Amino acid sequence: MSAGDLLFSTSDLLIGVATSALQIEGGDRNNNWYDWSKLSRTIKDGSTPERATDHWRRWREDTELMASLGLQTYRMSVEWSRIEPRPGEIDRAALERYRQELQAIRDVGIVPLVTLHHFSQPSWFQGLGGFSSPYAVDRFLSFASVVVKELGDLVSDWVTINEPNVHAVQSYLFNEGPPARRDFAALRQVLRHMARAHCRAYHLIHGLQPDAKVGAAHHARVFAPRTARNPVHRAAAYVDRQLFQEILADAMLGGRFHRLLGPAPDVTPGPHYDFLGINYYSRSAVRGIGDGTFPGVPVNDLGWEIYPQGVVEVAADLHARYPGPIWITENGTADGLDRFRSRFIYEHLQQIAASGLPFERYYHWCFVDNWEWTEGEAMRFGIVANDYDTQERTVRDSGRFLEQIIAHGGVTGSMYEEFVAGQTYPLGP
Ligand code: FCB
Repeated sequence: MSAGDLLFSTSDLLIGVATSALQIEGGDRNNNWYDWSKLSRTIKDGSTPERATDHWRRWREDTELMASLGLQTYRMSVEWSRIEPRPGEIDRAALERYRQELQAIRDVGIVPLVTLHHFSQPSWFQGLGGFSSPYAVDRFLSFASVVVKELGDLVSDWVTINEPNVHAVQSYLFNEGPPARRDFAALRQVLRHMARAHCRAYHLIHGLQPDAKVGAAHHARVFAPRTARNPVHRAAAYVDRQLFQEILADAMLGGRFHRLLGPAPDVTPGPHYDFLGINYYSRSAVRGIGDGTFPGVPVNDLGWEIYPQGVVEVAADLHARYPGPIWITENGTADGLDRFRSRFIYEHLQQIAASGLPFERYYHWCFVDNWEWTEGEAMRFGIVANDYDTQERTVRDSGRFLEQIIAHGGVTGSMYEEFVAGQTYPLGP
């Protein structure tokens, strides 16, 4: 085999990057995360999303940079609080700004995938109780219908809601997102209402755009018993997985609402997806309430285990119950020094390529370093580095690696030598 031969091929995949509006745009104060980040000690570095990467103004340069890397597709979100700053009031200028960006993305040949809800929401909507409110589903659907009507000539691929499970637990269990209240009744309502909102949005979007591709971005992690033979650990891993993941997947993808979620009279059981959107990051070692990592495993800057085969494990599992094309709507790692991101990309894509499953798309999280929720600006997920003081972007080696993967349709021996061979993962405690 020569160095130019492919070690594995990615030519069946459309490859790109993902972002979310609040984490990159900056400049918006009308949302719940801005409000919450202003309270003391909520965000680890004291930052707010007001600065972020200033993408709201720098979108042209960012789009050019994406094009120069040869990215084939781009997952972004639109910020509800910009488009509907007050209930029922639509900001045409904000929509126009998104239209320009989407047009530019298409003009450089990148396929856009647009998320309607990615954690943040308008302050007024939070005031109603966010997704725990009985009005939440209707409010969200009316916003969704405005966006699809106004942007639908530029976008045909949609993610309705990003990670309802993470949104719900960070806000109503772990105090890691607004309103940071431990409230099991609200947690259950949020999950139920988000799943209903997804199912109804699925039909609403198809009503407006028959050829649209619609899915959710489901956060799926591997839950493994900390000690394989320990029955408590095994039971806990099973319960975590059911509660955090499977019940929600059944509701969103299959329209089937478990009694733990509560009823959804407005949803008919049946498929509610055109692709299986999966955000995959890590594996948890479970031994009871709360989880951790196995000792001595590879970890990223946040201490999350790096477990590449997990991407196939979670996809295979979901696909067995809900057959369809698989889109990895997020996969990435916090690596401030870019010491192991290329290896991370290599090993995850290698797993995908060898799996025999119908993976169609891969979105690396993230395009550029960004405002990482409670972690603020410190955690670095970008294939492009950002200097927040100057807002200067610098493509990391891992960005060059992704560029070459796309250009070659896979990884060659010489690319492996250049980008991956010298990289090792840090090991956890
Ligand atoms: C996911 C979120 C995304 C980002 C990554 C690191 O759970 O969807 O916004 O924060 O984690």
